[in-house]
Amino acid sequence: MSSSEVNRTETPKTPIPGWYGLEPDDGAQAEDPYSAFKSLRENQPVNLTPEGGWRISGYNDIQHLLRRAVAGMRQTDGLIPGQNAPLEGAGVFMLMQDPPTHTRLRKLVKKAFTPRAIEAWRPRVEKITHSLLDRVAASGQMDLVSDLARPVPATLICELLGVPTEDQDTFTDWTADATHGLLVMRGLGDEAMVKRVEAASISLFGYFTNLIEARRGNPSDDLLSVLISAEEDGDKLDPIELLSQSIGLLIAGFETTIGLIGNGLTTLIRHPDELRKLRANPELAPSAIEECLRYSGPILATVRVVHEPTMLGGYEIPTDSEVVALLAAANRDPEVFEDPERFDVTRYAKGRDTAPHLSFGGGVHFCLGAHLARLESEIAIGAIVQRFDEMKLVNEATEWGASLFRVPGRIPITFVDRT
Ligand code: HEM
Repeated sequence: MSSSEVNRTETPKTPIPGWYGLEPDDGAQAEDPYSAFKSLRENQPVNLTPEGGWRISGYNDIQHLLRRAVAGMRQTDGLIPGQNAPLEGAGVFMLMQDPPTHTRLRKLVKKAFTPRAIEAWRPRVEKITHSLLDRVAASGQMDLVSDLARPVPATLICELLGVPTEDQDTFTDWTADATHGLLVMRGLGDEAMVKRVEAASISLFGYFTNLIEARRGNPSDDLLSVLISAEEDGDKLDPIELLSQSIGLLIAGFETTIGLIGNGLTTLIRHPDELRKLRANPELAPSAIEECLRYSGPILATVRVVHEPTMLGGYEIPTDSEVVALLAAANRDPEVFEDPERFDVTRYAKGRDTAPHLSFGGGVHFCLGAHLARLESEIAIGAIVQRFDEMKLVNEATEWGASLFRVPGRIPITFVDRT
């Protein structure tokens, strides 16, 4: 079928709410987006969203799309130039840009995220993790989010960027609210949502403006100093780009990994046999983390704009269309994964031949923080599984947080300290 045969006003056979595949603040849907994604992938792998945009859910189509060097959004969508500098700023984060701008922005910070540079943080991540577990060990109860999943990545991204770690509580609400900017930038979201995003963006913008002014002339060996010196260089980075990369890195490094550690531990607790396997074989930690990303990742989707007519699943997507790629749907595609609905901590073990999951996206925009996210979660999840026994969820259902992503807000548990 070609695009001319697609009736753009047709209601999708499998209505999935919202552009991103998740209705904001809908806990039941965040708990299980997978049944709806499965039905979409089976019935309409190339689909029109309720807003009339393109959305795809099959693994091979998504791989094909991501490998093309195209931007994350149309630059004009939903933005009123000169009206809202913080929101405009979000549009110049590297994820929304095409090469060569994307290449220039990514190059400035990529050295800090190489496997070698990230591996050097291992002792620090271990120290932070163990001191967090020490604090709760005697009490036999904790909130997996506020006592572990949030402070590990929050502390790390603050130290990497050069943001005072004691300010991390200030960011929690701002970064969660700012993620809805992905909708608001596209003219989606109700008035309350627009207000929430604007308030968070203005707070983040103000905070970083002050921080950057204070850091000028007083550089350190952190990422913020690298970005400031690129801006002072004149033609490498302009002031809005500087703010946007700093804020974008904070949000990307903060929200997402909370979701990986939180969802990963919830999934392990709900699959006691898999948890026991991991405890008995600590060397399975890297495989278990990949499986957590595949099975219950925090980022359900990413976006591309096609710059030329593109064939996907038998449809020709016209030039300049925005396409939402449902990564979480692709991660359970039975054409690619054996027994995809099964959570299996050995799936990515050495010697097994399994397709990569798509939770970090792909192509030129492949997640820059993937090594950091893996290191943090491998250590945090590995340590708690070794140290605490009989972990039990106090509530059956997860209490979801305020972000657009699938990130928990609170996961109270009880446990027995084995040490
Ligand atoms: C579990 C944790 C994480 C997940 C699931 C995740 C997922 C993603 C996804 C899906 C994308 C879009 C990729 C695409 O469109 O092809 C992305 C981009 C990005 N992520 Fe992550 N991320 C995580 C952690 C991090 C961390 C810790 C950082 C560190 C700062 C980070 C920094 C970035 C950056 C800078 C981009 C934009 C890259 C570009 O456009 O070139 N992420 N991430």
